[in-house]
Amino acid sequence: MPRHFLTGEELERDELRALVARAAELKADPLASSALRGNSVALVFEKPSTRTRLSMEAGVFELGGQPIVLRSGELQISRGESLRDTAMVLGRHVAAIGIRTGPDADVEELALHSDVPVINLLTADHHPIQVLADLLTMQETFGSLDGLKLAYVGDGNNVARSLAIVGARAGIEVAIASPAQFTLPDDVPATKTTDPAEAVADADVVYADVWVSMSDSEESAAARRSALGPYVLDDALLDRAADGAIALHCLPAHPGEEITAEVLYGDRQRIWDQAENRRHSAKALLELLVAAPA
Ligand code: CP
Ligand code: NVA
Repeated sequence: MPRHFLTGEELERDELRALVARAAELKADPLASSALRGNSVALVFEKPSTRTRLSMEAGVFELGGQPIVLRSGELQISRGESLRDTAMVLGRHVAAIGIRTGPDADVEELALHSDVPVINLLTADHHPIQVLADLLTMQETFGSLDGLKLAYVGDGNNVARSLAIVGARAGIEVAIASPAQFTLPDDVPATKTTDPAEAVADADVVYADVWVSMSDSEESAAARRSALGPYVLDDALLDRAADGAIALHCLPAHPGEEITAEVLYGDRQRIWDQAENRRHSAKALLELLVAAPA
C-alpha cells in the first residue's frame, strides 16, 4: 500500500518533527538528495497555483526527478474518464501524484485506486502541504516547535483546518478566531473563538489567509467580506500577541483586506521565507513518501 498525504493525519508527531528537520537540511543543501532520480511525479492542477506549482516542480527537479504538470482540461478526466482509471494509469508511469482540486472526495477516490502516493495540493477543505512550510518557518524563527502557539484570524477555511489538524499533530497550540457563520466544525482540534484579540493573546504566530477562497461560491463572497471586516491582521493585532511574535500568510495576499501592507512587507513577517519554505518542506515530504533519503 502506498503512503498518501491527504489531510496530514497520516503522519505521527515524530515523523512530522523529523520531516521539518529534514526540510531544514535540504534548505541548507538543496541538491543533497537524489531520492527521485529516474522517477517522474505527476502534478495535476484543476485550480490556479503560483507557490504550489513552483515549489513542487522545482522541488522534484532538485531531487533528481521529472515533474509532469497536467492542468485542468489536459487529462481525459475532462472528457469523462474516471478517477479510478486515471489513478491506475498514472501509477504505471510516475512515482507519485500531486493533485489540486475542489472536492476532497475526488482526492480520496484517486488515492483509493492509486499504487503510488497521492499528495493533496489543496482541496476545498484541506491544505496540509502548506502547513509543512509553516512549521519549518516557525522552527527556523524560534529554534523549536515546543511550546509555540499559533493564532489564525479569519475565514474558517481549508488552511485554517489544516493548521488545526497538522498543528495538533506537530504538538503546537492552535487558536482560531472566525465569525460565527464562517467558523470550523466542532470536531476540528483547535481552540475556537469569534474574538481575534482573545485568539492572539500569548501567540507566537499570527496567521492570515484570504477571505474568499478558490472553492467558495461567488454568492458567498460579499457576506464573507462583510463578516470578516474585523478580522484584519494589522500591527495593532500583532501588538497584542507575545513579544517577538511573527506574522504568517500562506499567500496569495490582498493587502488592505485580510492583512495590511505594513504587516505584509514589515519587520515582523516571515511570509516570504514561508513561501520559499514550500519547496524545502515539499521535498522532505516527497523523500518520505517515495524513497528513503539518498
Ligand atoms: N499558498 C499556496 O498554496 O499558494 P498557491 O495557491 O499560489 O499555490
Ligand atoms: N484558502 C485559500 C488558500 C490559497 C492557497 C484558497 O483555497 O483559495
